[in-house]
Amino acid sequence: MSRTPVVGGNWKLNTNRQQARALLTALRASLDGLGGVELVVCPPAPWLGDASDLLDGSSLSVGAQNVHAEPAGAFTGEQSAAILAGTVSHVIVGHSERRHVFGESDETVAAKLRSVLDAGLRPLLAVGELQEEREAGWTAAVLRRQLTSAFEALDGLPEGFVVAYEPVWAIGTGLTATPEIAQEACAQVRSMIEERFDATTAEATRIQYGGSVTPGSVVQLAAQPDIDGALVGGASLDADSFTAICSAVAEAAAR
Ligand code: 13P
Repeated sequence: MSRTPVVGGNWKLNTNRQQARALLTALRASLDGLGGVELVVCPPAPWLGDASDLLDGSSLSVGAQNVHAEPAGAFTGEQSAAILAGTVSHVIVGHSERRHVFGESDETVAAKLRSVLDAGLRPLLAVGELQEEREAGWTAAVLRRQLTSAFEALDGLPEGFVVAYEPVWAIGTGLTATPEIAQEACAQVRSMIEERFDATTAEATRIQYGGSVTPGSVVQLAAQPDIDGALVGGASLDADSFTAICSAVAEAAAR
């Protein structure tokens, strides 16, 4: 079955406004109209309006890096899915930096996921194990725990749902997972989705790999049968690198 791969650029806590606008303009120039791949750019929250304006009418989508689970209320400094819905189409939920740096629990991630789906936005649900969890042989158990919790209150997944498998030890370290390791984990994620929902849902779900993806490493990763694109951090801050990654994913999908 052919799934349209998804490449996300997670800018994290980087760029000032001028840099963001320049990068968005460059990405539009190099990537607008690239076929066979869905592209989502996730700048820092203050630049989401700029991103929405500068990418309007292009084939590039805008995503937020985070969301608050409550729809509205006295939550100073937060953004709800309802607020984001006017500006973005996608939201990263459960990124490992949210889980491990900001202490988000599986329950919080599940509540955020529900709020994003309820608002009609498209989540990129991030999961992944710590280095010590992998070394202890717990990778599948961690992925199962994260997915089970995230999906607990859901009757099904919308078509084209996106899970990002991001092993924490590979993020920002330069230690890209080997294609074999990434494929094995993404296949496990897919079979867990089949167990929880059904084969059709599992087949339709896009599973990205994330963690030190570069234009060089993405070629082999994108060739794996259960890897449907990439979630890119550092390399998404450079227009040439991100363009090369997106083009490589589109080429792999066309094979
Ligand atoms: P790096 O590509 O910088 O390792 O970051 C990956 C990531 O966390 C994307 O969400």
